[in-house]
Amino acid sequence: MTNTIDDIGISTTGERRAVVAAPGVAPGKDWVIVARGLKREYDMGGEVVRALRGVDLAIGRNEYVAIMGPSGSGKSTLMNLIGCLDSPNGGEYWLNGQLVSAMSDDALARVRNKEIGFVFQTFNLLPRATALQNVELPLVYAGIPADERKRRATEALDSVQLGPRLHHRPNELSGGQRQRVAIARALVNRPSILLADEPTGNLDSTTSQEIMRVFEELSRQGQTVVMVTHEPDIAAHARRVVVLRDGVVESDERREKFVDRVGIAHATTKVAHD
Ligand SMILES: Nc1ncnc2c1ncn2[C@@H]1O[C@H](COP(=O)(O)OP(=O)(O)OP(=O)(O)O)[C@@H](O)[C@H]1O
Ligand SMILES: [Mg+2]
Repeated sequence: MTNTIDDIGISTTGERRAVVAAPGVAPGKDWVIVARGLKREYDMGGEVVRALRGVDLAIGRNEYVAIMGPSGSGKSTLMNLIGCLDSPNGGEYWLNGQLVSAMSDDALARVRNKEIGFVFQTFNLLPRATALQNVELPLVYAGIPADERKRRATEALDSVQLGPRLHHRPNELSGGQRQRVAIARALVNRPSILLADEPTGNLDSTTSQEIMRVFEELSRQGQTVVMVTHEPDIAAHARRVVVLRDGVVESDERREKFVDRVGIAHATTKVAHD
């Protein structure tokens, strides 16, 4: 199967540049994420660590983006800001047309529960809870009644082929199956964006490829995905690769043809940032 840039709804370079370069102006509805001059500094008792020094990034609906870069370049810091787990010290962050960089912690938590699904390297499942109970958890917080919780959690687990493992606890599942539970939990609130910070970091290469197929399928169904990875063969599944270095975007390339399961080579074009 071939995919063109039109098929996957990636906008043109000029539009992306314009959307980033319009401070104070709300982005149009096609942009899930717009970051303008995003900064995050940590004050370590007098010494200031500049984790992000002005990140400009616009991500459109249905994009599948990999974030790469050396250790310490700011990838997790950026994911935490995008995921509304943290607030920036400077710049603007718009999520789905809402200016979240200026929100209070309470408002941020509400946006996070509604808009964001997060998948971590270490799965972060509750060890004593079954797969079904783990996936139901975000729905408990959202105040969804028990019947509907069960139905929606079962559906989410079915969508990652874990229908037959509903009542297993994490220690009764393989690493790949645990990560599938975490993906189902991230999806159960139907978030507008799925964020994953090194989702295959604890998995062997066969299992990693299996998890990548899950992300690819979600992306094919229209889910917006942003994933941090150190591994080029994992990043090769994404359609756009953003490289951070020293807290800024060093390069941003999208693939006209991304690597498919039999390893077709891909063409790349730069995404302009200034
Ligand atoms: N809570 C914190 N307090 C102080 N400094 C921090 C904190 N979190 C991150 N940093 C610093 O900010 C910089 C960016 O860290 P970050 O975790 O975003 O890097 P990363 O690109 O995710 O690295 P890795 O690939 O190792 O996960 C690093 O220099 C780090 O030491
Ligand atoms: Mg990190």
